[in-house]
Amino acid sequence: MSKLKLVYHPNDVLETECEPVTQFDNKLAKLLNGMYDLMLDADGVGLAAPQVGVLKQIAVVDVGDRNGKIELINPVIIEKRGEQIGPEGCLSFPDLFGEVARADYVKVRAQNRRGKPFFIEAKGFLARAIQHEIDHLHGVLFTEKVLRYYEEGELEG
Ligand code: CO
Repeated sequence: MSKLKLVYHPNDVLETECEPVTQFDNKLAKLLNGMYDLMLDADGVGLAAPQVGVLKQIAVVDVGDRNGKIELINPVIIEKRGEQIGPEGCLSFPDLFGEVARADYVKVRAQNRRGKPFFIEAKGFLARAIQHEIDHLHGVLFTEKVLRYYEEGELEG
């Protein structure tokens, strides 16, 4: 059972710039574990720390591909290419889905839970999820980028 609680829109915490992480301690590890559990419970593919009320540059992503669980601490997009337009949702906006344009490829520099820097390259849906979560860390919500909202039932079947 997850002790963290999801923050739903509207809430100022979702539109606030997050602070970089400087302490890679057990508290961070526990937060990451809790965020991942909450994301899975909520059937999400990504979750950012402000969505659990923590204004730090921390996100978890798992789109169910071979990359598995990805933990992004202090992530920065250092390269982006191409464009994809597709459906997007957010755990902080239940039942709201819109069409959003994102880069089709991103290269990101981030740190792991021990503070070790790493790079990740992503395409397609994973690239979309990563861009969505990094936006959260800067107080940017997907609704600012929606080209059009889907009608109820439009994404089913
Ligand atoms: Co979101």
